[in-house]
Amino acid sequence: MAGPSRPGLVHVREAAGRLQGRLHFTPVLTSAGLDRLAGRRLFFKCELFQKTGSFKIRGALNAIRSLVEDSKNTGGELPRAVVTHSSGNHGQALACAAQAEGIPAYIVVPWTAPDCKQAAIRAYGATLVPCEPSDKSRAETAARVVQETGGVMVHPNQEPAVIAGQGTIALEVLEQVPDVNAVVVPVGGGGMVAGIAVAIKALRPDVKVFAAEPRNADDCYQSKVKGELTPNPHPPDTIADAVKTSIGPNTWPIIRDLVDEVLTVSEEEIKQATRLVWERMKLLIEPTAGVGVAAVLSEQFRAVPRDVENVCVVLCGGNVDLSSLTWLTDLPGKVE
Ligand SMILES: Cc1ncc(COP(=O)(O)O)c(C=O)c1O
Repeated sequence: MAGPSRPGLVHVREAAGRLQGRLHFTPVLTSAGLDRLAGRRLFFKCELFQKTGSFKIRGALNAIRSLVEDSKNTGGELPRAVVTHSSGNHGQALACAAQAEGIPAYIVVPWTAPDCKQAAIRAYGATLVPCEPSDKSRAETAARVVQETGGVMVHPNQEPAVIAGQGTIALEVLEQVPDVNAVVVPVGGGGMVAGIAVAIKALRPDVKVFAAEPRNADDCYQSKVKGELTPNPHPPDTIADAVKTSIGPNTWPIIRDLVDEVLTVSEEEIKQATRLVWERMKLLIEPTAGVGVAAVLSEQFRAVPRDVENVCVVLCGGNVDLSSLTWLTDLPGKVE
């Protein structure tokens, strides 16, 4: 897709206009128990309740609607197909958005992606193309499918229309939690945190933007430390399957300039935080959403100044593979 490589607030606002009335306005929930554990007021933006079970539909729908608008404006035809690679949630989202417009969708999925996500992609009528679980294999397979189908690539996190669509989360958070001091956002390819940072820093530069990622997939942290894009050297091993991918050339400059800090958490912390949200809040988040919760409960976050009192954590998705929960029974103790 063509467009600016660095979206701004205007693009996030345009995206909000396109999505208006087509998606859920997800609630913000609170938990006194989790507030006590964090020592701050926490606000949970519940994107697990979003259509397709994650925030990903925001970016995917913005991209598809932009393509449809472009074809109308130019009197041209709709794309012959759309293509993407995804660990699952963007794939589901793009399949859903494309189906609504009658556009065939081809989704390249690492064979390790959770079964529930693969099944959902098929259920939205898309064609699933398996690949190896590495950024290289994903990109190469998708490029081949684009050639074979003549389709348009909609990158899951580097596509500017996707980044702008994810930024609409921030517009809602600023409306729902006007006295918010910080947002905490899990980062994979960085589309969500980049879109949110663009909107937050344009509208409320005083609000801190934290990215949160598994220590086993800490490319965003390493990039910030080194001051240059530093992808994960190997396919990461983490329970947070949706953030195994690395940030890229379009999201890195935004993250470099606008994200205040990157928090990293262990696998144990992610599992404990995920379980805590299930037990205390009764919200079926996926472990990737647990990354943000783990970050605000971490030692590292305790060092954040106390005037950062009201913290919004994006519960980014709820597509849990229930058949894979063996790790739960292996957990030693509960967080009290
Ligand atoms: C539930 C969930 N959270 C977070 C992310 C990370 O988003 P991004 O790749 O835009 O950083 C993804 C990406 O697939 C996701 O599905």
